[in-house]
Amino acid sequence: MLNKKTVEDVEVAGKKVLVRCDFNVPLDENGNITDETRIVGALPTIQYLVNNGAKVILCSHMGKPKGEPVPSMSLAPVAKSLSEKLGKEVVFAADDNVVGENAKAAVQAMKDGDVVLLENTRYRKEETKNVDEFSQELASLAEVFVDDAFGTAHRAHCSNVGVSKYIPAVGGYLIQKEIEFLGNAVNAPVRPLVAVLGGSKVSSKISVIENLLKKVDKLIIGGGMAYTFFAAQGKTTGTSLLEADYIDYAKKMLDEAGDKIILPVDAVIAEKFENDAPSQVVEGNIPEGWMGLDIGPKSVELFKSVLSDAKTVVWNGPMGVFEMPNFAKGTNEIAAKLAELDAVTVIGGGDSVAAVNQAGLGDKMTHISTGGGASLEFLEGKELPGIACLEDK
Ligand code: 3PG
Repeated sequence: MLNKKTVEDVEVAGKKVLVRCDFNVPLDENGNITDETRIVGALPTIQYLVNNGAKVILCSHMGKPKGEPVPSMSLAPVAKSLSEKLGKEVVFAADDNVVGENAKAAVQAMKDGDVVLLENTRYRKEETKNVDEFSQELASLAEVFVDDAFGTAHRAHCSNVGVSKYIPAVGGYLIQKEIEFLGNAVNAPVRPLVAVLGGSKVSSKISVIENLLKKVDKLIIGGGMAYTFFAAQGKTTGTSLLEADYIDYAKKMLDEAGDKIILPVDAVIAEKFENDAPSQVVEGNIPEGWMGLDIGPKSVELFKSVLSDAKTVVWNGPMGVFEMPNFAKGTNEIAAKLAELDAVTVIGGGDSVAAVNQAGLGDKMTHISTGGGASLEFLEGKELPGIACLEDK
């Protein structure tokens, strides 16, 4: 799938290899990592390089420190987690300049098979502006660059795109895996292909809807974005999320897509955006003063029946406010349905991944993407700069 050189296409033994990972992982108030999916996803490439005698220099961003050192966004906890998972010490090169004296000394002291992790690349203000000087500094540490940060592939920053100008750049195993699963799911699927889209805004998913409509057999739409489609059907939506500017667009989509688009036929509504707010199920109009917070039971049954025939499913975005237990049912039922399907199931996007994991069904899916924004842009059919910059095969 990936027509780019990979880590197996370059000589790494005895070489210093800079690896861009996406270690942008969530931390609790005590600095403990609460979801290690992205760290686990990075292990195959790191392990391969260690086994093949490279000196492995890891780098990543975390959060948005906006160009200055912010201790709560240090990558130190990631070094600890990696050391445990790899069963060998990952030296953390604490350095406010990222590629300052400490980092250079740590790299200088490396032996074949050693692993060093640099500090948060966004401690440097040049990083997100893709300024050449910082890209050169990063590249000067190594002889080969491996990009394995799928989650950051929609960004063109120094530590992924910039550095590729100065040393040979190839893809890692995680990037290959993501492209293979997401790419096959939308471009060479076993049919029927059903996409399930949710989340709050139509406006942020327009390009995804347009691209997917060309490829899918059915497109299920739930979540907050469904209420703009309700309005397009002539229903009242009460105080539900509504993007009035997009009602005409939604009408056009419904006219053009015919029965390809499957919308909810009922909604769980409440008077307040609170878990314990009194709620009821309605079909048709949502009354004044009430808001839709989840798909209703008839929609769940409808969506499940459409999914029953699917051989490939791509899911992006929850069906309701799944963070509130009383409005998580629709999302959980769809997750459970996907888990029992005899189909390729690909979950892309931060919220749907969180929902699947919250339901404890992560290991029942074929592929859970480590990309939020990146997987969304991939589903839009866009070229991701973090992949385009790699050397062609
Ligand atoms: C993500 O979490 O989607 C990636 O790590 C990119 O982070 P960003 O949105 O802060 O660039």
